Amino acid sequence: MYRCILRGLSIEGCVDVSSCLRQQRVSDKKWSVFTRSRLHHRCIHSWISPVTADRGQPLTHFLSAPIMHQQTQSKSMSIARRKRLPSAFPVVEGALHPIQNHVFELNLKNSLVCQERYHKYVAQVQKGGGENAVLRHTQRNKKLLVRDRLHRLLDDEDYLELSPFAGLGLPYGDIPSAGCLTGIGRINGLWCVFIANDATVKGGTAYPITVKKQLRAQDVAMQNRLPCVYLVDSGGAFLPLQSEIFPDKNQGGRTFYNEAVMSAMKIPQVAIVCGSCTAGGAYIPTMAEETVMVHKIGTIFLGGPPLVKAATGEEVTPEDLGGARLHAEVSGCVDHFATVEQDAFEATRNIISTLNFELPEEVEAGLVEEPLHSSGDLLGLAPKTYHHSLDAKLIVSRLTDGSKFQEFKARYGTTLLTGFGRIDGHLVGIVANNGELTCEASLKGTHFVSLCDQRDVPLIFLQNTAPHPGLTLSTDKAEANTNRLKAQGSMMSAVACASTPRITVVIGGCHGADSYAMCGRAFDPNFLFLWPNARVSLVAPGCSEALGHEEEEAVQLDKKLEDESSAFFSSGRLWDDGVILPQDTRKILSNCLKIIKQQDYQISKEKQRTPLLRL
Ligand code: COA
Repeated sequence: MYRCILRGLSIEGCVDVSSCLRQQRVSDKKWSVFTRSRLHHRCIHSWISPVTADRGQPLTHFLSAPIMHQQTQSKSMSIARRKRLPSAFPVVEGALHPIQNHVFELNLKNSLVCQERYHKYVAQVQKGGGENAVLRHTQRNKKLLVRDRLHRLLDDEDYLELSPFAGLGLPYGDIPSAGCLTGIGRINGLWCVFIANDATVKGGTAYPITVKKQLRAQDVAMQNRLPCVYLVDSGGAFLPLQSEIFPDKNQGGRTFYNEAVMSAMKIPQVAIVCGSCTAGGAYIPTMAEETVMVHKIGTIFLGGPPLVKAATGEEVTPEDLGGARLHAEVSGCVDHFATVEQDAFEATRNIISTLNFELPEEVEAGLVEEPLHSSGDLLGLAPKTYHHSLDAKLIVSRLTDGSKFQEFKARYGTTLLTGFGRIDGHLVGIVANNGELTCEASLKGTHFVSLCDQRDVPLIFLQNTAPHPGLTLSTDKAEANTNRLKAQGSMMSAVACASTPRITVVIGGCHGADSYAMCGRAFDPNFLFLWPNARVSLVAPGCSEALGHEEEEAVQLDKKLEDESSAFFSSGRLWDDGVILPQDTRKILSNCLKIIKQQDYQISKEKQRTPLLRL
């Protein structure tokens, strides 16, 4: 958060101003200022668009996003209440031709195998740390399981869990749900991010992947301005891996840094202490804006009773050292004392009611048209490989309201499908790969992304990229590749700097630079999901020989690519927000669009300069 005066001009925003200023250059004729894009979305990670202005021209014009912030928000709020423009988008062709049946069947077979693997992992992560750990947690420690806690805290079970498979298949083992459930659910109708430790997984201690998952959830809260609730039940750092958790920028300390920054951004944070909060974990509730603590099961201390005994020889109970009574009555570290867990969830729901939000109006049931084709068909449209891709319009026709789609530049750059549709009533711009991202396709993509940005229409990217970069085998090809390079660079810039919300679904391949232009993870989409058939790697499996590797080397490399490119490998490492089933895509996109829109309804949003301090 900053406000600074630069030669009489005011710049305001919520990013690290020093890095902006460091890169500012002043010459005789020009001011050249680098500013982060999307400031008005309060996204602090997206990077960078250079803007220049003639000397004397108001710099505020070019840095208008943050300064205009309040006006923009009140405008969008009133827009949200007005009637939307009527539309009569044409119905897109969604029927399958008999000639496509063969590919459809092959895709379907592959999707069913992938779906089985998906359900296997769902069952695995739902067991948490296993039978013994569950018994210890519920019988001996008398605590509710993390999913039961969420069911009591949230309005309903219809919440969006993020990256449930994170932590599976890591070099240091399988860590179910990375030991921490994250997601977005409704409390009193308001979408809130939750970050909930699962103490059945090694006492809820933080592995490197746990930290990464928590940071991603905070990122989601920041990018979409969502209140955040922490359900803390953790033994702190998983000590054997401390070197991968503690020292670096995006490791343990970042959670606390984010807490302060989020508070300064007016993103409300509430903590529920429903287990141990040891060492670093102790700062989560003490830095939250409001904290509820459960009697007998909640403890907050930097070092537990064994440490006290070792240091002083004194025997002390956890309750006396850092229990709910002590922190509610003596230290002031917590604000609400709950006798049992259920009371803590009710207290938290009441706290959420004090946040100054209004609820968006729900679109009346029956007013939204369902797609004309079954979402189950998406299983046969999910490409087994790039060469099994069917026309992207078939997929779009199963996602949009009434299968309607207003195509943009239908006759140009046809390997990229662009156009407008509605998903559950929300107007969106859709950008879908429909073949290679050629020069023309990239130019079209650049134009369309800029158009949506101009109109504040959220973008949905359906990614199915070419398996490997275009090879340069002739002079003609070299020229084509160079043109493509330039056009893709433009598209990447347009995507990176678009201030409108972006959601990416990898429906097939996610490879190389095509993936960047199609808003891959590095381009900071609000959400990124994978279908189970998706493949994520620099080049697709099977392409190494084409790239000039010797046969034996190519076989080994392909095997490695095969193993490492699966959607589950990717999700285990948290390169995405989760694997979703194709048939659930429309529902999940609809929820994400509602979640993103909620920020327009925050009444109290004028930025503070400092976080709330617990004094
Ligand atoms: N690092 C690595 N493993 C840890 C751990 C830590 N900080 N804390 C707990 N574990 C492991 C235990 O070894 C045990 O492993 P096992 O299931 O393979 O036997 C498992 O987590 C559960 O711990 P346990 O003590 O049996 O469960 P509990 O419910 O009685 O207590 C804690 C859980 C977290 C309260 C307790 O283990 C504890 O206080 N741990 C130490 C916390 C600490 O000092 N952290 C400092 C980190 S900087």
